[in-house]
Amino acid sequence: MRFDRAELVDEARRSGTLAGLPSGHFIDGRFVASISRAKMQSFDPGRGVPFATFAAGSAEDVARAVVAARAALSGPWPRLTPAARGEILMRASHLLRERAARFAVVETLDSGKLLAESEGDVGGVVRCLAYYAGAADKLQGDSVPLGPDYLGVTIEEPVGVVAQIVPWNYPLSTAARGIAPALAAGCTLVVKPAEQTPFTTLMLAELLHEAGLPAGVLNVVAGTGAEAGAALVAHPGIDHITFTGSVATGQRVMQAAAEHVTRLQLELGGKSPVVLMADCEIEAAVEGVIGAIYENAGQICSAGSRLIVEKAIAQEVLDRLVARVEAMALGHGLSEAQIGPINSPQQLARIDAHVARARAAGNRILTGGGIVPDAECGGGWFYRPTIILADGLDDPLVQEEIFGPVLTVQIVQGLDEAIAAANATPYALVAGIYTRDHGSAWRFARAVDAGQVYINEFFAGGVAMPFGGNRKSGFGRAKGMAGLRSYCKLKSVVARL
Ligand code: NAI
Ligand code: MG
Repeated sequence: MRFDRAELVDEARRSGTLAGLPSGHFIDGRFVASISRAKMQSFDPGRGVPFATFAAGSAEDVARAVVAARAALSGPWPRLTPAARGEILMRASHLLRERAARFAVVETLDSGKLLAESEGDVGGVVRCLAYYAGAADKLQGDSVPLGPDYLGVTIEEPVGVVAQIVPWNYPLSTAARGIAPALAAGCTLVVKPAEQTPFTTLMLAELLHEAGLPAGVLNVVAGTGAEAGAALVAHPGIDHITFTGSVATGQRVMQAAAEHVTRLQLELGGKSPVVLMADCEIEAAVEGVIGAIYENAGQICSAGSRLIVEKAIAQEVLDRLVARVEAMALGHGLSEAQIGPINSPQQLARIDAHVARARAAGNRILTGGGIVPDAECGGGWFYRPTIILADGLDDPLVQEEIFGPVLTVQIVQGLDEAIAAANATPYALVAGIYTRDHGSAWRFARAVDAGQVYINEFFAGGVAMPFGGNRKSGFGRAKGMAGLRSYCKLKSVVARL
């Protein structure tokens, strides 16, 4: 099996796939076929063709995985000290660093994203595993002052069996930001990756097992949402659900969770604003906007998909953005392109439908606005990076998540109007502002409803900063120490002395 970057890229370019990809579910410490023997294909979005098959799980496979995860809660795992759990995570972090190129090339083939982005994601997961390795033995409770006759303490206990549903846009990163803290807290898991992108999650489970995780602690069942996903979130043997994906599916998962009163955290969509005040450093801000909306071809829950710009600089900012966007090369993730494909033909059609409706409504399209024809991109699923002017706060371009390389522009006068525009959607995931005036920046940070606010650098932060949404963007937090506590249940113990 290859681990060298140049050799891997060469193999993938030459053969269209890689030898040695996992083909089964990972249950109870080993790869197994579906009980029904069913399989599915995964596609390379950069070419629009299937490149590998994997096991398609059903309710039976899910049940088998949940049994393994429950049994592991009474095996060697709960007897390990928190420090020993941390050592396993640290070994996994080192192993992943050694195999980073392999994970990155697989992620690019499976999801479509540019190789440099996949490498960034894998680097982030190396760091995520190390962060929670170090956090495992720092999950301290409180002692509570109750006077001389009592002693009160709080204890953070693992919540039990965690079900995690992972989407296709950041397959490995999203899986890891659930898996690492859940393991640090002492939980066991059954993870269901998206049917478009199962491979790196399966590879991560194998790697953690090699790093010393006992069998059954981390199980991965691949397959569709309708079959494997729905069976998992409805299973009575699950204690906590971590879901990342669309609002509509999140609502269904919430209904399923109600049946058994299963704990739940939801990370849903966004329509996140990036505000450019007239006093900002324009060049840095324009680069910030480009990264905020065109990274991963805009398929990011926290994408900065709405530019809110002060009128005084609007023309200059838009001229620069259009020039910058029109110079971006589209191409396969393993090429030298600056913008990669859309993950699926379904998503490509959804993006195009949003833009077609805007065009029909008379919105001005400053650049882009169309599917790239096959002849130009060799059969892959590509959408032209697009910039469109919005028409008022009620415009669907302002209100609806597009989840593609489409930037909506809103022009405002002053900070108060910028704040009102920022808060004008049902979503509240992230918000960014570029300004030299820290007073304005902090006023914005306090007034905007969002799980995280970025000042002068969109996507700033990393695994140590808690991440999650409010309102229709969901609830609960991943990352940081808050992410660790998501996988704990708090017990209060009081002694009469
Ligand atoms: P989805 O929300 O249906 O899929 C996300 C995950 O949920 C996948 O693993 C899927 O297999 C699983 N799933 C689907 N139905 C399920 C069910 N009934 N029970 C349990 N799990 C289930 O999203 P989809 O259809 O792939 O994309 C639709 C839209 O969702 C996109 O256009 C985008 O707007 C949004 N989206 C948001 C993401 C985010 O990061 N917040 C990620 C992916 C999509
Ligand atoms: Mg794929």
